[in-house]
Amino acid sequence: MRLLFLVAIALLVQNDRVLAWGQEGHSIVAEIAAHCLDQTTYDSIRALLKTDLLPDVQDGHVSLGSIASWADDYRAEHEESRNWHFVNIPFERGTYDPQVDCRPDSRYGDCIINAIERQRVTLADCEKSPAERTAALKFIVHFVGDIHQPLHASERNGDHGGNDVVVSFFGKSAKLHAVWDTDIILRTVYAWGAYVTRLETKWLPGRDLSGLDGGTPVDWALESHKFARDVVYDIPDGAVLEMNYYSRALPVVDRQLALAGLRLAQLLKDTLKPTASCP
Ligand code: ADE
Ligand code: ZN
Ligand code: ZN
Repeated sequence: MRLLFLVAIALLVQNDRVLAWGQEGHSIVAEIAAHCLDQTTYDSIRALLKTDLLPDVQDGHVSLGSIASWADDYRAEHEESRNWHFVNIPFERGTYDPQVDCRPDSRYGDCIINAIERQRVTLADCEKSPAERTAALKFIVHFVGDIHQPLHASERNGDHGGNDVVVSFFGKSAKLHAVWDTDIILRTVYAWGAYVTRLETKWLPGRDLSGLDGGTPVDWALESHKFARDVVYDIPDGAVLEMNYYSRALPVVDRQLALAGLRLAQLLKDTLKPTASCP
């Protein structure tokens, strides 16, 4: 019995590792993206997401925020998608080496950079079934969020993106990874909708975003990685994180969530743009 209990705890800890931004972070990114979509792109998204609903009960509303964490549920039952949520660029190297960092693993998959590209190709292909394209849409909404979490593009000394680093965050013991997935956001707002409002009314207006809403998944991962090097891993001796750390971290979380939203919107617009072969 005791052994069973220990095995269950070990599995939980292991499972806990690959968590993405929490549901809040993903919903924030998806909602910001939804607000930036044009009508044509929104209509294509609605047509895809409606295929999940029973025909008689749907009222035509769809919400990107609601499907933004679906990929985490999928991962729980599909271990081959486990590595699609991150790319472990080593802190010690600081550059992306696709052969090493995105090496295919027959059991757990390759990495977020290839996963975004694969799902983008599926989403753009109207010869694929609606079910495949809908799944691709849900993966993209999630992965574009994940790749902007600095610890989903970094690891130091094999720490699994800070999952093996225990810190104290405002007096509570936490994994460094979870501080960045969830805790900083939850110390800032009660409800994720308030974070969207905060970014849309305080962060975005008047900001020069030229060149920032584009880029490739490799660019996004390297940017995230740089924040991990400069801010995330810059933890004081004793790993007691309080106001000092939070005030350096929050601008990074703000920027990453806001840009993930804008970049996601741009990627969805480009990918779903009607073409001659996919009108
Ligand atoms: N598991 C292993 N490395 C990880 C990372 N960088 N982010 C999330 N989960 C992980
Ligand atoms: Zn995570
Ligand atoms: Zn994830």
